[in-house]
Amino acid sequence: MKSLRSVVLGCGSYLPEKTITNHDLEKMVDTTDEWIVQRSGIRERHVAAEGEYTSDLATKAAQAALVHAGLEASDIDLIVLATATPDHTFPATAVEVQRKLGITHGFAFDIQAVCSGFVYAMTTADAYLRGGMAKRALVIGAETFSRILDWSDRTTCVLFGDGAGAVILEAQEGDAAECGRGVVSCQLRSDGNHKEKLYVDGGPSTTQTTGHLRMQGKEVFKHAVGMVTDVIQACFDETGTTAEDLNWFVPHQANKRIIDASAKKLGISPEKVIQTVAYHGNTSAGSIPLALDSLVKSGRVKEGDLMMLEAMGGGFTWGAVMLRW
Ligand code: UT7
Repeated sequence: MKSLRSVVLGCGSYLPEKTITNHDLEKMVDTTDEWIVQRSGIRERHVAAEGEYTSDLATKAAQAALVHAGLEASDIDLIVLATATPDHTFPATAVEVQRKLGITHGFAFDIQAVCSGFVYAMTTADAYLRGGMAKRALVIGAETFSRILDWSDRTTCVLFGDGAGAVILEAQEGDAAECGRGVVSCQLRSDGNHKEKLYVDGGPSTTQTTGHLRMQGKEVFKHAVGMVTDVIQACFDETGTTAEDLNWFVPHQANKRIIDASAKKLGISPEKVIQTVAYHGNTSAGSIPLALDSLVKSGRVKEGDLMMLEAMGGGFTWGAVMLRW
């Protein structure tokens, strides 16, 4: 049997037009720009317009990725969309994106792993492509967290935002490590014992309401660095690489302090660390592809560059994906 690998053909992202700055939030809750910047590194977040849904953000990010890859929507036969804020309880938002892109072949489904959604989606798409079940996959992380925030709760509403990003993966023959491009290692973990530290207090089966995000921020923070550095180390161990070999570190954008502490613990030098959290806050599953797209569009990435994507979030779930661009 021929061996297949998943190679990135392009990426794209989308942020809604409307922004809310820290100074805007000062007028809404008892907070300050200084507190938010110091504790999280966030300066502003984007918020979807009325009537603008997760599928709209996802479709715009997907269209940008198709343009970047020089492909048509009809070239895609798999859509894996990570979101914790779907348009509806069902059908899957991925299927709505498929419809909006005008695709009627192949298949589409959602992944629910909250902030780790994008690494879960990449890992899932990679497995389908390597298994020969699809040829070209759109992997999307898209969220409208503004719709599940309690805007009177200063401990959460200042941290999150809306946004989407997408990557296109193609199944190509050959082993990723030997060919110099493609996904080389995926590590996923979860532990439901941490549910109460970050969850939404509603849902179709429990309350029949959408609910609001609730978080014990300090508790999440305490676990974050250890969990992400653990899965990153597992990627290094699996591939026989070290932090020195990395060209780029593209972490989940939740908090500048978590990113800095993780990079420091692993010995990844600051110039390799991509930080966009200041400009869009925590966009959950959207944050890694947003950061990745900003890096790629800056023109600094070369073919074959080694990248580490990582995230940790509600569940808890956490994971890392290592790839050669
Ligand atoms: O994507 C994964 C999900 N989430 C995360 O990764 C978030 C992880 N956690 C964090 O990023 C940080 O824990 C936070 C940014 C949420 C908070 O930072 P912290 O340094 O852990 O602060 P804290 O929760 O210990 O709060 C310190 C103080 C408290 O006051 P007291 O009890 O010391 O009097 C809070 O009530 O800051 C207060 N506080 C605020 N003050 C001004 C909490 N929220 C705010 C606020 N503005 N927005």
